Amino acid sequence: MLLPIVKYGDKVLREKSHAVASVTPALRKLAEDMIETMHSAEGVGLAAQQVGHRESLFVVDVPPECIKDLEVRAFNAPIRMPLVAFNPVILASEGSQRDTEGCLSFPGMSGSVTRPFEVTLSSLDIDGNPQVVNARGLLARAILHEFDHLNGVLYVDHLSAVEKLTMAGKLKKLAKANGGAR
Ligand code: NI
Repeated sequence: MLLPIVKYGDKVLREKSHAVASVTPALRKLAEDMIETMHSAEGVGLAAQQVGHRESLFVVDVPPECIKDLEVRAFNAPIRMPLVAFNPVILASEGSQRDTEGCLSFPGMSGSVTRPFEVTLSSLDIDGNPQVVNARGLLARAILHEFDHLNGVLYVDHLSAVEKLTMAGKLKKLAKANGGAR
């Protein structure tokens, strides 16, 4: 089932998620609906807040062919896509990468964000089993972007002052149309 995607301006995007006690059938269905919604919107990640939920949950799907660097692609190969992560915790991160990033809650916009190059994340999978993933490159970027959402942090928070200023008009307009929360 496709879920409506919340846009910048809705206060839920600034709320912190809460851990789930267990992965119930209802939460499993939510994860499946989020995957369907993410694919339909042609995104590579979606966090619970973006569909109006507050559970600690995100989904990510970075197909291997999206990763141009073959070494990075091989490194990420053991990670099953789509990745479903309940109660994610970052165990380690290292390195640095800077690239253009967008978000389904900011349609038609993008900006440059610096993030760690590699991340190690522990979480529960869609069956409620513990999993640890170690990802690099674009997949690491997607995981870190979605992890931020669960703490009420948005990619625009990471932009340089200059870039923020360039986007200020568009951001203000988008926020105003969706409830006004910044
Ligand atoms: Ni996003």
